[in-house]
Amino acid sequence: MTQDSLFRVATPPGPAGLQPFDTELIAQIANDLFRDPEQAGPAPVPPPAAVPWQGRAAAPALPAEVAPGSFYFLDEAAATPPSAAPGWNLAPSYLELTAPPVLDPQPGPFDPVSLRRDFPILEQRVHGKPLVWLDNAATTQKPRAVIDRISDFYRHEYSNIHRAAHALAARSTDAYEGAREKARRFLNAGSVQEIVFVRGATEAINLVAQSWGRRNVGPGDEIVITWLEHHANIVPWQQLAAEKGAKLRVAPIDDRGQVLLDEYEKLLNPRTRLVSFAHVSNALGTVNPVREMAAMAHRHGAVVLVDGAQSVSHLAVDVQALGADFYAFSGHKVFGPTGIGVLYGRSDLLEATPPWQGGGNMIADVTFERTVFQPPPARFEAGTGNIADAVGLGAALDYVTRAGLANISRHEHDLLTYATEGLSCIPGLRIIGTAREKAGVLSFVLDGYRSEEVGAALDQEGIALRSGHHCAQPALRRFGVETSVRPSFALYNTRADIDALTAAVAQLARSRP
Ligand SMILES: Cc1ncc(COP(=O)(O)O)c(C=O)c1O
Repeated sequence: MTQDSLFRVATPPGPAGLQPFDTELIAQIANDLFRDPEQAGPAPVPPPAAVPWQGRAAAPALPAEVAPGSFYFLDEAAATPPSAAPGWNLAPSYLELTAPPVLDPQPGPFDPVSLRRDFPILEQRVHGKPLVWLDNAATTQKPRAVIDRISDFYRHEYSNIHRAAHALAARSTDAYEGAREKARRFLNAGSVQEIVFVRGATEAINLVAQSWGRRNVGPGDEIVITWLEHHANIVPWQQLAAEKGAKLRVAPIDDRGQVLLDEYEKLLNPRTRLVSFAHVSNALGTVNPVREMAAMAHRHGAVVLVDGAQSVSHLAVDVQALGADFYAFSGHKVFGPTGIGVLYGRSDLLEATPPWQGGGNMIADVTFERTVFQPPPARFEAGTGNIADAVGLGAALDYVTRAGLANISRHEHDLLTYATEGLSCIPGLRIIGTAREKAGVLSFVLDGYRSEEVGAALDQEGIALRSGHHCAQPALRRFGVETSVRPSFALYNTRADIDALTAAVAQLARSRP
C-alpha cells in the first residue's frame, strides 16, 4: 500500500441536493499533512498494517474502502443509557472483538553478539571505552524494533482510543488492544480481560493493595511477604495494614538468600488474606519457588500476588501454571518503554474488585446520582492511558519471544556462573546472595571501598552497574550491609562484558587504599 492510498476518504452517500464532499481534495490534504518530508523519494514507508480485528456483529456497515473488521465504532447499544438495574455492566465493544490468528514470533538461533547490534545505545563509548551495560535489573535498553514501532505508531496510527469512529482511532485501538493480546500470550493468561495496563510493577501492586486489598483485608487479617522484597512490595502492604488494622508478616530467608519455606508455611493461617512475593529478587537474584509457595498459600485460602518485575526478561512465565492470582511487571525491565506495565489478575478476582481511580474510559454510564463501571480491564484503566508505550511493550514482548526465553535463561545462567567464578577469586570480595536458583543478578561488596566508589570507578571503564541499596534495604541488612554493587545481566551481555567487569574490579582490589 502506498502512502497515498492510506488516507483515501470514503464517499458518504450524501442526501439529495447537498454538495458531496470533495473526497479527492480531502485525501490530498491529509496526505500532504502526514507525508514525512524526508520521504519525498519514490518509496514512501508504508505504515504497519493494523491488526484486523473481527468486528462485532452489530457494528454498522463500513464504507467500501475501509477493510472490514479493521476497527470498531461505538454503536447504538453502547450509547444507550443502561437500565436502572443495580450492577448493570456494559461490555465495551473492543473487548468483544477477537484477534485473528497472529503467527507467534518463533525463537530463532540465539547469538548475543548479533542481538546486541539490535540495541543502538550499546554502540556508544563512555569515557572513551565501549559501553558495557550491566544495570539491567534497574532497567533494560531498547532494541530498534521497539524504538521503530513507537515511532511508526506516532507517525501513522496515533489517536486516542476506544471512543471515536474515525480511522486513526481504529488503528490506535487495534494497536493498543493488540498489545494487550501480546501480553496475555506472553504470560499465558486465560483472557485479555485479565490484562490491565498500568504504569509499572509499582502501580500494579498499589492497584491491588488499594482496590482488592481495601475490600478484602480487615482488622486482624494478615498479609505475608518475604525478607527479599523490593520496597514496592513492602510499602503498599504496610500502608494497607496500617489503614485496616491488619498485620504484615515477613517470611525469613537463610544465609544464602533463600526463603525458609517451613518458616513461611508457619506464617500462613486462616487469617492470611494475601501473600505477595517476588518471582526473582532484585537485590540477590534468588528465584523463588513460586509454584510451591503459591500452592501453600492457596491451601490456607490466601490470594497470591507475584512481583514479576525481575523475572519476565529472564524466565518464561505461565501465570496459570505458577498459580499466581495476580502477577505484576514493568515494561522497561523487559526491553520496552518506561511508564507502561502489566497487572495480570485472575478474572473472578478482578470482576469482584472495585476500581481504584475514577474517570473516563472506566465507566459504562454516568449520571449525577451514580456511575456504572465497565468490567475489567477497562474498569482499572481510568483516563487516557499510555497508548504508544503499550504498543511499544507489545513489540518488546515479540522481541523477547523471538529471542526465546529458554535461550535467554540458558545464556544468562552461563554468564552468572562465569561471573561468579571470576569475581569469587578476587581477594576481599564477598558475594551477597548465593541461592541455588538464581537469575542474572550478582550482588557483592569489596573490602576497603564503599559501593558507590566501586560504581564510580567502574563507570570510568565504561561499565554501568548499580551501587546502592537497590530499594531492598531489609534484604541487604539481613546480610549486615547497607549497600552493595550489583551487576545484572541481559540477553545482549557477553562473556567479554564479564571479563571487563572482573578485570576492573580485580584492578580496584589490587590498588586497595
Ligand atoms: C523486584 C522488583 N519489584 C518491583 C520493582 C518496581 O518496578 P518499577 O519501578 O518499574 O515500578 C522493581 C524495580 O526495580 C523490582 O526490582
